[in-house]
Amino acid sequence: MEKKRDFLSLFDVSDVELAQLLRRAEELRFLRGRREPHPTRPGRMLALIFEKASTRTRVSFEVAIAELGGHAVVLGKNDSQLGRGEPIKDTARVMARYCHGIMVRTFGHERVEELAKYSSVPVLNGLTDLLHPCQVLADLQTVYAHLAGRAGNPSVPAPDVLPVLRSVRYAWVGDGNNMANTWIEAAGLLGLDLALACPKGYEPNPEVVARARGTAKGKIHITADPREAVAGRHVLSTDVFASMGKEDEAETRRRAFAGYGLDGKLLAAADPKAVVLHCLPAHRGEEIADEVIEGPASLVWQEAENRLHAQKALLEWILP
Ligand code: CP
Ligand code: NVA
Repeated sequence: MEKKRDFLSLFDVSDVELAQLLRRAEELRFLRGRREPHPTRPGRMLALIFEKASTRTRVSFEVAIAELGGHAVVLGKNDSQLGRGEPIKDTARVMARYCHGIMVRTFGHERVEELAKYSSVPVLNGLTDLLHPCQVLADLQTVYAHLAGRAGNPSVPAPDVLPVLRSVRYAWVGDGNNMANTWIEAAGLLGLDLALACPKGYEPNPEVVARARGTAKGKIHITADPREAVAGRHVLSTDVFASMGKEDEAETRRRAFAGYGLDGKLLAAADPKAVVLHCLPAHRGEEIADEVIEGPASLVWQEAENRLHAQKALLEWILP
């Protein structure tokens, strides 16, 4: 029997595999657009475990597995014995006997690692305090599709994924959080040029940075100056200043992040054709201005939709 594959971090796939996933995600996007059924994983049961709130992750995974012909079992914060302290390693071994895959959203990254260690079926990271790989997969699909410019026409040949993604320069503005860390992984894995502007004390995880730089691919530049980070760049991303679990720091963070909001002025310092990503939920007037998220540079709604297509590709890849 082949060893099961988990998806806890972007580094759980190779650059070539990631390109294949994005290519398949695009095919699935077009298939769905034409309302062609694609039940490639009939009867597969996918557990979705949430220890934090979710809109997109929950709905996109639930719809994804249903459209692939399978079924989701959703456990919210208070629905399982996990909330009453049952060990994650026990949960892993039990869930793996009912389900063919387990997606989990939780706090410490070690909880996902523990689940994966004890589960005999593939485990997918639906967000931890450290990483959010499913989101960046969808973000990369969004950038690829935007640049490939096939305008919904699958009969136009799709250009190779990696050269397209490497043809632009990326910027992150705001908290050095799970999303920032995952973009750093993407830069190291795929060889992207990424600049990040984070206030002092809110920089990305140093181990993630070291691992990504260790691939000797791409460029990762970290500064405290948002204008320097976005100058002339093509893909700008941001996220909330206070992630889930950090709500009690919201006021301190609001002060620390003054000047880090992605507004029209900051966008004007980027390349004139720059596009803007945000994983959502967004706080307008904090990390992103209304004029930017609602403006012509914003790809955020397509980005949210692509969670569905990218995760379908991921489920096909990971579920035997
Ligand atoms: N972007 C994202 O993961 O959204 P949810 O928190 O709604 O799942
Ligand atoms: N950084 C955010 C992402 C939400 C999808 C959080 O962890 O809350």
